[in-house]
Order: sequence, then structure tokens, then C-alpha cells
Amino acid sequence: MRLLVTGAAGFIGSCYVRRALAGELPGTPCGSDLSVTVLDKLTYAGNKANLGTALDDPRLTFVEGDILDAELVDSLVGRADAVVHFAAESHVDRSISGATDFVVTNVVGTQTLLDAALRHRLGRFVHVSTDEVYGSIDAGSWPETHPLEPNSPYSASKAGSDLIALAYARTHGLDVVVTRCSNNYGPYQFPEKVIPLFVTRLIDGGRVPLYGDGLNVRDWLHVDDHVRGISLVLAGGRGGEVYNIGGGTELSNAELTGMLLAACGADWDSVDHVEDRKGHDRRYSVDITKISSELGYSPQVPFTQGLADAVQWYRDNRGWWEPLQARAALTP
Ligand code: NAD
Ligand code: DAU
Repeated sequence: MRLLVTGAAGFIGSCYVRRALAGELPGTPCGSDLSVTVLDKLTYAGNKANLGTALDDPRLTFVEGDILDAELVDSLVGRADAVVHFAAESHVDRSISGATDFVVTNVVGTQTLLDAALRHRLGRFVHVSTDEVYGSIDAGSWPETHPLEPNSPYSASKAGSDLIALAYARTHGLDVVVTRCSNNYGPYQFPEKVIPLFVTRLIDGGRVPLYGDGLNVRDWLHVDDHVRGISLVLAGGRGGEVYNIGGGTELSNAELTGMLLAACGADWDSVDHVEDRKGHDRRYSVDITKISSELGYSPQVPFTQGLADAVQWYRDNRGWWEPLQARAALTP
């Protein structure tokens, strides 16, 4: 299989490619049956080093380019059997400071890829999306049929991209599958997201900003579990369908912060209670019955172990994250 993977210099896409080439993903062909072309613009969040030794793998081709470049996209999609589409602007706070890049990349970029897929009658297009498209839920969990009620410019742009992707399935019969995942954590996550931001500051004795009352809840899933779910969907998901991926560990931000303080040898004196994020979603929770019953998915990394390993990874890989800290500073 010839895979085109967009955004694979980012956190989750790079994990998918590293593990696919290592033959660790049920559902993604391995060995000489697999070749991977990565298309990534290398925005502030993109970092070729995230691909690690996969960069030396003769089955990998790295193309620096934009998913909005229709000519480039057409030529790459024309040489692929399937697309796994991760490329996006992904950080909620940045979308509050300025939404243009989010709408352009997430909506128009996705449509540019879909148009190329349609021209070439691509075999399969996996659109990687997020649970944030459902909005916020006080109790219970969202099934895939729940209406989309996004609140941030980021989640609204992802909801737009989901709807365009599903429209190409319904209107044109394109073999599109959409995944919607909860909050990921693990190695190589850009140090603007809460876990790597807090860990990299705390292990240096720095301070961390906890938004609002700290009682917003997120469902934390190890990135290895997310990419395994995506791989199962690539292989066995039904065209035109949406699959939630999650089932990690629900924690309030205050509970998470307590665990990170303990893991980094710090205490609550290191925490600044700061103004809340605008439009801050209170709680996310996805129902994973569909992917579990149809594709045999279940999360495998226990949170306490995954978090301890991640903290250790950031301790051991200062050379990876230190140069990124300046880039992580918000530039409205
Ligand atoms: P990330 O910000 O770490 O990486 C995004 C990658 O996309 C970067 O390498 C960047 O250079 C690339 N990119 C951005 N604009 C591009 C463009 N115009 N053309 C080509 N490449 C471009 O993001 P991530 O956390 O790895 O998320 C990947 C996908 O998963 C996103 O679609 C995101 O919405 C979704 N997702 C993320 C999470 C999470 O917790 N991080 C959870 C669910 C879903
Ligand atoms: O749910 C999936 C989504 O998870 C993905 O689609 C997004 O790409 C990803 O960024 C993530 O969005 P969140 O907004 O939930 O993640 P973030 O790490 O930015 O924030 C997690 C929680 O921590 C959120 O409630 C806000 C809070 N927070 C965040 C930061 C950066 C703080 O309290 N302080 C902070 O400095």
C-alpha cells in the first residue's frame, strides 16, 4: 500500500508513521508492502525530527509542502492508494488569537485533498478529527450521531472539515472515514499543549498557568492508542462513517495538575491560577461503543504508566523541546 500521510511532522502523525514503518500497527500493511509519503508544511508545530529514525527508512519520502497547494496535492494523491490526513492547525488558544489559518488550513486544505482524491478515485481517505466538534457535555458521552456544536474557532474549523469530508462521501461516493478522538498525550507533543507545557516548565522549577477554576474535564488517551485506532479504521472502517476514539482517563485539569506536580517533584506553589480560556469547553467525553464493537478497539496504555513514561521522555529529551519553547510562545 502506498500511503500519503499529511501533517506527519506533527505530534500524532509522526507517531502514526513511526509505528507503521516499524510494523506495529494492526491494519496498516508492513514490510515491503508499505511505502509512505509525508506531506507537511513544517509550520511552527511541524518538526522533521519527530519522525526519528523513520526518516532514514527507504520506504519513507518526505515532501515539504502545503495541503493548500492543489498542484502538489494532486500529484501526490495520484500516486497514493490511501490518505491519512492529520495536517491541521491544532491549538485552541491560537485559534482564539486568530482564526484565519484554522479556517484556511483545516477547511480549505481538507477540501483540496478531497478534490484530488475524487479526481484520482482514491481507495480510502481517513480524515483525522476531534471530539471537540461535539461541543461540551456535562454528563454522559457523545455517540457519533450527536449533533456538532463546536465552540472554539479551532473546533468549528474541524467540524467544517468533517462535514466537507462526509459530503464527499455522500455526494460523490468517495471512500471517506472520519475519526474523532479525545485529548492525546505522549512523546513529541508540542510544548504548548497542557501536559508538555506543564512538564517542561515544572522540571525546570518554573511556574504553570491553570485556567479558570481548574475543573474542566478532559479524557486523556495515549497517542499510541489513538494511532492504533486510526489504523483499525483505515483497514476496516465503513466508508462514509464516523468513529469516535477515546476511552482513556477522564480528569479535571486540577487533578491532572496534581499528578504532574507530583511526577515533577513540585507542589501547588508552582501553579498560577489565571484567567479562564474564552469559551472554555467544560467537559469532553466520547462513547467508543462503535469502534470497539465493529473493529475490536480498546485503549491499552494505562494512564498512570503512560504519564510516567511521558514525563520521563521529556526529562530525557531536553534537546528536543528546548528549541521549541520560543516557538510555543503565543504570537497573536
Ligand atoms: P500538531 O499541531 O502537532 O501537528 C500538525 C502538523 O500539521 C504539523 O506538522 C504542521 O506542520 C502540519 N501542517 C499544518 N498546516 C499544514 C498545511 N497547510 N499543509 C501541510 N501541513 C500542515 O497536531 P497534532 O496534535 O499532531 O494533531 C494532528 C491531527 O489530529 C489534527 O488534525 C488534530 O485536529 C487532530 N487531533 C488532535 C488531538 C490532540 O490531542 N492533539 C486529538 C484529536 C484529534
Ligand atoms: O479533545 C481533543 C483536542 O485536545 C484536540 O482536538 C486539540 O488539537 C488539542 O489541542 C486538545 O485541545 P484542548 O484545548 O483540550 O488541549 P490543551 O492542551 O490546550 O488544554 C487542555 C486543558 O488544559 C484545557 O481544559 C485547557 C487547560 N489548560 C491549557 C493550557 C495550554 C490550562 O489550564 N493551562 C494551559 O496553559
